[in-house]
Amino acid sequence: MNNKIENRFKKKINILKKHNKSYFIHDKPQITDAEYDKIKKELQDLEKNYPFLKKIDSVENVIGAKPSNKFDKIKHLKPMLSLSNAFDEKDMNDYLKKIGNFLNIKNQIIELSCEPKIDGISATLIYENGILTKGLSRGDGTTGEDILENLKTISTIPKKINSKKIPNLIEIRCEIYISKRDFDKIKTKFANPRNAAGGSLRQKDPRQTSKIPLKYFAYGLGAIEPMFFQKQSEFLAKINEWGFSTNPLSKKITGLREIQKQHSVIDNLRSSLEYDIDGLVYKVNDLKLQERLGNTSNSPRWAIAYKFSAEKAFTEIKDIVIQVGRTGAITPVAKVEPVTVGGVVVSNATLHNEDEINRKDIRIGDTVKIQRAGDVIPQVVSVDLSKRKDKNRKFIFPSKCLCGAPTKKEISKSTKKEDAVRRCTKGYDCKFIAKEKLKHIVSKEAFNIDGLGKKVIEQLWDLNLIKEPADIFNLNYEKIIRLEGWGELSIKNLDKAINKSKKITLDKFIYSIGIRHIGQENAKILAEFFTSSDAFIEIFKREKRDEILKNLVELDGIGETQVESLDNFFSNSKNILITKNLKDQLIISNFNKKDKSGKFSSKKLMFTGGFENMSRSEAKSIAENNGGKVLGSISKKLDFLIVGNSKPTKKKIDQAKKLKIKIITEKEWNKILDR
Ligand code: IVH
Repeated sequence: MNNKIENRFKKKINILKKHNKSYFIHDKPQITDAEYDKIKKELQDLEKNYPFLKKIDSVENVIGAKPSNKFDKIKHLKPMLSLSNAFDEKDMNDYLKKIGNFLNIKNQIIELSCEPKIDGISATLIYENGILTKGLSRGDGTTGEDILENLKTISTIPKKINSKKIPNLIEIRCEIYISKRDFDKIKTKFANPRNAAGGSLRQKDPRQTSKIPLKYFAYGLGAIEPMFFQKQSEFLAKINEWGFSTNPLSKKITGLREIQKQHSVIDNLRSSLEYDIDGLVYKVNDLKLQERLGNTSNSPRWAIAYKFSAEKAFTEIKDIVIQVGRTGAITPVAKVEPVTVGGVVVSNATLHNEDEINRKDIRIGDTVKIQRAGDVIPQVVSVDLSKRKDKNRKFIFPSKCLCGAPTKKEISKSTKKEDAVRRCTKGYDCKFIAKEKLKHIVSKEAFNIDGLGKKVIEQLWDLNLIKEPADIFNLNYEKIIRLEGWGELSIKNLDKAINKSKKITLDKFIYSIGIRHIGQENAKILAEFFTSSDAFIEIFKREKRDEILKNLVELDGIGETQVESLDNFFSNSKNILITKNLKDQLIISNFNKKDKSGKFSSKKLMFTGGFENMSRSEAKSIAENNGGKVLGSISKKLDFLIVGNSKPTKKKIDQAKKLKIKIITEKEWNKILDR
């Protein structure tokens, strides 16, 4: 009996394997999806009724991981950063100067690798001893999602590197895209090829992923052990030899003239390419120089994206409405006759603020030029006055917020000028601001709760189920399950995702509160300063706040603007209550300072004078990458004053001597760094 079942099982599993091959590898399915699912179901039933079969083979092994509702999150070996942008020749000239200054090699020409910037979805592939073992999405840049099974359905991604000489570990960064032609076949379902690629990659069922033909270009090196390459161009050539697809338009170039030339060559080719590109990426070709240049908080210094000019179109303004952002900013938005701009249908375009509308004299009914660049919100550029009709009305900018409260323009402390943006100052008391704040809280960079997006926040807000952040953690699921679109499984998954998000790091908690001017980077600096959530909430107390704020000004990266904003936010008792309620729902872990173990671990340094073989910026970055902190003024807190040979300030040296601070000469500094 068992033998018979075993034979039946083996036979069917082989059939399934055969169909997988025709489907995934040859891209020629022999049976319909329904037929495939029937075989799958039969096998699953057999496996359930006769558990001994699992020892022979497992259906799950053959069909890929069970379509799960959530992808596992995995920390990246190296963060996946974004790129800073350049828009014109001047920006590129500034960039070249900046890297030259940083490296202190002003007159030498730095070789660049110039590559098309593919407008797709980034992913990273990890090969251990040549075998593809992990495949992650970018996620929030620090942690990605395990999408290996889906990536494996892209037949052109090597599952194994067939070469004798390979590093033990190599991480290949790539951009997944869908070709323009393939997108044409499915364009009713997605706004643009990029969304289609993203949607397909995040499909829970890898078999579905393979239905949309995904392609990729490998462009970068993540982690590697041991180091194997000296140049970016060499890396690209080698991985191409190994079977990865790399972009054929990549080129080594030097100098501004060549940059400009290449820019227009590729811009002219752009529309004839089979994939969308939105600019060119310029990378310092020498990997050692790349290492010296390092990263700023969000992007590498060794690369820049030089964007093509934005795509434009003409359309008519049907109406102008206002929107309220999470910081209370009132933004006028033009509702336009839907028009396709660079492959995307646009029906809303921002008008920025009242002054912009007046300056450009934009009226309802006008024909306007709108532009869209990458992910940036489409904007109204100018009016075609030849098409102006007498009946076109001026927009009267409301002095009140949508909530009815008066708005105001702030006066900047530094410039003493009036801000162009009008703001509602009601904070959580304005329901429009409150909703936006909630959307920010659940966003990818903050709590990152799967299944709780902007639309769900709107829905649950309207039903009075979420009014403040803490409510997210006390949802009435019995009510939600009765709503359209919700089922037991989605509720279970939402509950799971919410519970998981309760564990949060201090920096993400601070960022999620949504204090104006406190972005991700500032939140990290603050988290490093406070270290624990208990220390952070001392800022709630009026009598402690002034002292805390005074200390914050000393932090590199925190300025008066941030301090003032923190003071404003916590002077409002409702904000304190809401933040406290939220905190009570969470398990907030202390901030882990990066690279504590470096040469300057927990030491405070200061520099004076210039160095011969490195710029001040590089010296600062080296100190920070090695666990040190760089201060801007001499105080008792300082551990070392590093004195460069070129024009050091005598006063600083004298002060340091007086305070018995250790002085390090340029020669000693180079010795410490093994240079
Ligand atoms: S290099 C930031 N090269 O652009 C680390 N990126 O805005 C270095 N991208 O997340 C990135 N084509 O997904 C690089 N040839 C290329 C690229 C490219 C597309 C994407 C990538 C990255 C994003 C940064």
